[in-house]
Amino acid sequence: MANQEDIFKKVVSHAKEYGFIFPSSEIYDGLGAVYDYGQLGTELKNNIKSYWWKAMVQYHENIVGIDSAIFMHPKIWKASGHVDAFNDPLIDNKDSKKRYRADVLIEDHIAKIEDKIKKECEKAQKRFGEAFNREQFVSTNARVLEHQKQIDEIHAKYAELMNNNDLVGLKQLILDLGIVCPISGTRNWTDVRQFNLMFATKMGSVIDDSDTLYLRPETAQGIFVNFLNVQKSGRMKIPFGIAQIGKAFRNEIVARQFIFRMREFEQMEMQFFVRPGSELDWFKYWKEERLKWHLALGIPAEKYRYHDHEKLAHYANAATDIEFEFPFGFKELEGIHSRTDFDLSRHSEFSGKKLQYFDSELNESYTPYVIETSIGVDRTFLAIFSHALKDETLEDGSTRTVLSLPPVLAPYKAAILPLVKKDGLPEKAREIMELLKYDFMVQYDEKDAIGRRYRRQDAIGTPYCITVDNETLEGAGVTVRHRDTMQQERVAIENLNSYLHEHIKPIKA
Ligand code: GAP
Repeated sequence: MANQEDIFKKVVSHAKEYGFIFPSSEIYDGLGAVYDYGQLGTELKNNIKSYWWKAMVQYHENIVGIDSAIFMHPKIWKASGHVDAFNDPLIDNKDSKKRYRADVLIEDHIAKIEDKIKKECEKAQKRFGEAFNREQFVSTNARVLEHQKQIDEIHAKYAELMNNNDLVGLKQLILDLGIVCPISGTRNWTDVRQFNLMFATKMGSVIDDSDTLYLRPETAQGIFVNFLNVQKSGRMKIPFGIAQIGKAFRNEIVARQFIFRMREFEQMEMQFFVRPGSELDWFKYWKEERLKWHLALGIPAEKYRYHDHEKLAHYANAATDIEFEFPFGFKELEGIHSRTDFDLSRHSEFSGKKLQYFDSELNESYTPYVIETSIGVDRTFLAIFSHALKDETLEDGSTRTVLSLPPVLAPYKAAILPLVKKDGLPEKAREIMELLKYDFMVQYDEKDAIGRRYRRQDAIGTPYCITVDNETLEGAGVTVRHRDTMQQERVAIENLNSYLHEHIKPIKA
């Protein structure tokens, strides 16, 4: 079986080979942690965004969507705390000259100990077979308990240091844990210092006189500063939400793992405004709702886990991540944060405009509290894509690569394939294209033998291949081949549209 590193390499190369994702500016040797979505990647990405938008906006009467500008008044980032506190702790190795995030070095160290626990479990599972009880094993095995104790101690220390912004302590922890640079293998570290992640730029034609602007590091602030506009123009009643999908920019210190950590990426965020005091109930509600959204994609539940935050961001009174098991381990996919009234209060203070809500049921005005759900489009893409990509050995011993995407997310819903390039079959196939293309993304392909065309459609995740053969011309309909089972059935041409509608249903969380 391929190891995780090989699987990840395959994900990256498959994404490029089939037109999903290309390195940005590739002919100029690329640009660090910036990627372009190709012709199929754009379709998949749009379908992911549509799945989120429908689930959040279309299926919730009390959530509306906006599209705010990337450029915003610079005071916004002062008010939000990003100018002063949107930093990552940075450390360099003096021998390799490589730069790292101090917190990531510690998290990677913890992940290595977690791996040891996983290995102990795998060994025990082999030994005990069916009788293996994981829960019992991890709560009683001496070696596992020792590893877990180590993890808990490091976590506690690390959370305390991060909360206190103790950079000297962070460096000491790295030294105490014996963490070495993966390149040089040495512990020759510089001091830890803070690095602000926002990109700055200038506005106006005369550079000298212009103001410094920041490329937004999150879409959320565009929602907060429009809170009153939306509430009043939409006559929204609390509790209600405002959703937005858009680009965000972060000058990540260490950008790696493909589209997992990019410098330009896209977020899908929703701010849900609630009565003060009810926020922890709503936090629980959204924590569960969002996991349901992920599970409705059909990816097994064990690929997801919650990670409650010990170190809370400057605006939060509760926070959790939904983590996904990427090919490089469990990592954050989505954040759910109880942001209190921090953002609205700060924008009131900095703008001098009162950002309050009059609650007619309580007959009082207050600053609403906010629950935020925030998920990266690109990370969701990577999660879905990497899980869907499989190499299969078939009954006859041959192999195929298949991208088992949920049909509603697949770039093409169907491929229309004339069996041969003659006898009027291409013309009939073109007629079917006309019939379907207004409702579905469909692709016409007549090149190569039919088996090779099926394989190509499997590799790009097309759920249905519609083949036009000689019997089609005699009125016997077409064959529809299912990507996952490779089963074929005959369907009348006049039923094709409703057939696809029936099989490609929207996902309901
Ligand atoms: N408004 C809250 C916020 O921005 P965050 O946890 O910093 O919270 C939310 O980011 C989500 O955005 C993450 O869970 C992740 O999916 C995505 N994200 C953050 N930084 C990213 C990056 N550099 N590249 C790709 N996705 C990123």
